[in-house]
Amino acid sequence: MDIQPANKSIVEIVRATKIYPPDVVALEDITLSIPYGEMLFLTGMSGAGKTTLLKLICGIEHPDKGLVEVAGKDLNRIKGKEIPRLRLQIGMAYQDFKLLADRTVAQNISMAMEVAYHNIRTIKKRVIELLKKLRLEHKHDALAGRLSRGEQQRVAIARAVANSPTLILADEPTGNLDSKTTKLVMELFEECNKSGTTIIIATHDAEIYRGSSYRVLELHSGRFLLHEERTITTMNSMP
Ligand SMILES: Nc1ncnc2c1ncn2[C@@H]1O[C@H](COP(=O)(O)OP(=O)(O)O)[C@@H](O)[C@H]1O
Ligand SMILES: [Mg+2]
Repeated sequence: MDIQPANKSIVEIVRATKIYPPDVVALEDITLSIPYGEMLFLTGMSGAGKTTLLKLICGIEHPDKGLVEVAGKDLNRIKGKEIPRLRLQIGMAYQDFKLLADRTVAQNISMAMEVAYHNIRTIKKRVIELLKKLRLEHKHDALAGRLSRGEQQRVAIARAVANSPTLILADEPTGNLDSKTTKLVMELFEECNKSGTTIIIATHDAEIYRGSSYRVLELHSGRFLLHEERTITTMNSMP
């Protein structure tokens, strides 16, 4: 990828607050730095702000206060051609999938790749490879709207990783999957991460990161729980 300075984080969030009208404080004073190549988990109960944080990072929502920078670009100032160029580097697997119901599985995945100007043969090969990894090869020509939720979820994941983006954002990617299929999805993410991709996974399923050494950040009512605890400890230990 073109912008990957060694000394920089891919995501830099400084004191970001997001308020949905009229007065829902979804995120409050969030500061977060994610180096290139990290895989990390965002956790917290339903309503804690996980989806909103992913939306700030991919630029679907903007903070009311604070800074959100991705690959060195301030998302509040970025304009013109820079926006699609940055979006190509981000693969988002949405919590509600956002598939085109009247298109086939293969078409849903291919479309994400066509905007990145891959040739047809590369696209076809990649689609088959991803469907095999996610045990969905038999659904290649099925309409997305006819799939079960667990199958749709895997198509959304395949579409998010298809372009080998620099940054993958996965929102509750295993929410509709059994433990075997969850394992396949996590193996795919780990494989992407090993090849250098930064991955942020929002989940309320502690099973998928239990025992791993990845960073886990817990949101609670729009704030990072661990950050607060650390602040309190520091204050208590002051003379
Ligand atoms: N578009 C919206 N309009 C108003 N409130 C919203 C909207 N999206 C999310 N919220 C609220 O913001 C808070 C955080 O939501 P969300 O980021 O979806 O949390 P999570 O993904 O952790 O469940 C919740 O109180 C939710 O109801
Ligand atoms: Mg959510």
